[in-house]
Amino acid sequence: MRGRLFSFEGIDGVGKTTQVARVKDWLEQEGYRVQVVREPGGTPWGEAIRDVLLHRASSRDATAEFLLFAAARAELVRAVICPWLDQGGVVLADRYIDSSEAYQGWGGGGDLRLIRLVNDALTEKARPMGTLWLDGVSRGDRSTQDNLESRGKEFFDRVLEGYGVLWQSQPQRIRRIDSNRDQEEVFQSIRVAVDEWLRAQDISPTSARKGGRMS
Ligand code: TYD
Repeated sequence: MRGRLFSFEGIDGVGKTTQVARVKDWLEQEGYRVQVVREPGGTPWGEAIRDVLLHRASSRDATAEFLLFAAARAELVRAVICPWLDQGGVVLADRYIDSSEAYQGWGGGGDLRLIRLVNDALTEKARPMGTLWLDGVSRGDRSTQDNLESRGKEFFDRVLEGYGVLWQSQPQRIRRIDSNRDQEEVFQSIRVAVDEWLRAQDISPTSARKGGRMS
């Protein structure tokens, strides 16, 4: 059975982080124990890799760049995600495997076969039960841009195309959420989707509490 892992995807500035926080509050009110992780990052070493990827230097080689994301992911999965899932908690991932396909694969022209192979191997015990693809225009209200966000429109068009292809090829796992709506409406759509996935696995808050010992 898949663990209670939900990932949130979409282009930069589409509002993922806000929605992740809302879903966390909602699930906690329902009695689940929830851990939020963000990629890249989530462990001290992963945060150091994040710093390199976002602020230090950029690589022209998308496959090389992917391998650095993958290194951070490997540690995050082993050290944080799997232990949390094993103890019955819910994990909300602010980006996960699909970001690599969309950004390094589609956006950057990296080796999609290798990206899938590595992602599959790394996340064998931590596959998302469901993925919310927040599809909408970037709010673009950030005061600073990092290395990865400073790429051009064509890049982000390809990233979006990649998300579209992923969604069409895995409709059971990936739900497209129209994010060009107000925050509350977006949240309600996400809530319906997450609720359906949890019910499909017959996972109630009670069983989650029973399963978990972390505080
Ligand atoms: P972040 O500041 O977390 O922005 P966002 O709110 O958009 O998630 O930046 C993460 C950046 O890393 C973002 O530009 C997407 C990129 N990224 C990849 O290119 N590949 C990946 O596998 C992951 C996880 C992220």
